[in-house]
Amino acid sequence: MGSNERIDPWSSNQSTDYDRIIEKFGLDIVDPSSLPNPGILHRRGIVFAHRDLDVVTSCMASGSPFGVLTGLMPSGKMHLGHSMVIDQVKWFQEQGGDVTVTVADLEALATRGTSLLDGREKAINEYVLNYAALGLEPSKTRIYFQSRRPSVQSLGFILGRKTNISEFEAIYGFSGDTNLAHVQAPLIQAGDIIHPQLDDFGGLRPIVVPVGIDQDPHIRLTRSLAQKTNWFNVKPRKSGGLTVSLSVQDENSLQLGISKDGKIDSPVRKKLFDTIGKILTDLGFSDIIPNQKYGTLEVLGASLSDKSLIRMSLLRYERELGGLGLAPPCSTYHRFAVGMTGGKMSSSKPETTIFMDDSSDQVAKKIRKAVSGGQPTVEEHRRHGGDCSRDVAFQYLQFFFEEDDNSLSEIRSNYESGSMLAGEIKQICIDSATEWLANLKEKRDQWVGNLDEFIASDSR
Ligand code: TRP
Repeated sequence: MGSNERIDPWSSNQSTDYDRIIEKFGLDIVDPSSLPNPGILHRRGIVFAHRDLDVVTSCMASGSPFGVLTGLMPSGKMHLGHSMVIDQVKWFQEQGGDVTVTVADLEALATRGTSLLDGREKAINEYVLNYAALGLEPSKTRIYFQSRRPSVQSLGFILGRKTNISEFEAIYGFSGDTNLAHVQAPLIQAGDIIHPQLDDFGGLRPIVVPVGIDQDPHIRLTRSLAQKTNWFNVKPRKSGGLTVSLSVQDENSLQLGISKDGKIDSPVRKKLFDTIGKILTDLGFSDIIPNQKYGTLEVLGASLSDKSLIRMSLLRYERELGGLGLAPPCSTYHRFAVGMTGGKMSSSKPETTIFMDDSSDQVAKKIRKAVSGGQPTVEEHRRHGGDCSRDVAFQYLQFFFEEDDNSLSEIRSNYESGSMLAGEIKQICIDSATEWLANLKEKRDQWVGNLDEFIASDSR
């Protein structure tokens, strides 16, 4: 990945230079030991990076509400790669999150030419059915369609005021001949990500979006759009503590104490500062230095870890004053599982992945043909051992099919020592995959015709 290269969310060709991505886009690294009940994707380093995940883990610790949002593009068949996000969603759900799932039918229309009708059919029979089978809890999951939720579309429109074509060129590489529906897709997605915070959809609470790294441009955009709407900023001070500052914009200047003639409206400003001061003291902070003229309050006793607490209280106050009060979304990122032929997984190349409804014969055939980390001859293999980092069978056991950490590490050490042959590890993978898929099919069969429970009432 070169220094001015970008991540293209619509390309099937994603960079897997994760260290570079972390550094370039300022992601934080996931520390599995900081998570309650880490799942296999966390324990195995597959969920590797995040933005503001600590905001969500502190909700878990205190039992405060938080939401999880994910989205699916209803084009192409669901394959193993898609199941990773659902594993994460399920984990967040088990830790207390309420789940919203976007069916990106407008995006599929804009970027793949899928009609809304086809998108609906595909979403329900291919994706929702498998999500149910993978174990999402219907009473805590709401699935909606972009085309059916006007609040998402208007929110995207409203957030659109905070960006422009140049920013879209820089983030997405759009140019003069980019279709306008395609230009709208990221704003709709920003609407998707933000809208669970609206009062009609659960109200102000942190929202976490687990995604593959390909979706990070949307996360970055959405975080910056949300922040640009905020009436109060909370930033670290150079010499310790936090600064709360007013962000005066056309739409809030009266409420923030600027009168029509552009001068400071002292009574309004004083009342505003009194309230903010009270919010901060109620949260337990002392040593507050207000500067009404500059519109800042220095909170000397606060530390960086208090930022989100203070921000949430101020967002609540912003809403009372008539603002949107939007928190930036949190996110987690997973590594991509390698495609079976060594390149990328892609729905349009069936030999590169396993579909959720592949037959056991198809699966066995694909795994037998998959890229192996074994040595060319049995003799060399016994001597040098297999290479797990190249071996598709091993990686699929690691990512998907072998839940038991001890069994997995036993397989790894037998394979790396050469006592287990390439054909043998493939057979283990075939057996586990067959069982996993058969189990999924059984669950799917139970859900056929009963998926309405998952679909939000505006989208049935
Ligand atoms: N753009 C996503 C994809 O290509 C789909 C999507 C739409 C989405 N809205 C979302 C994903 C919100 C996460 C969050 O698959």
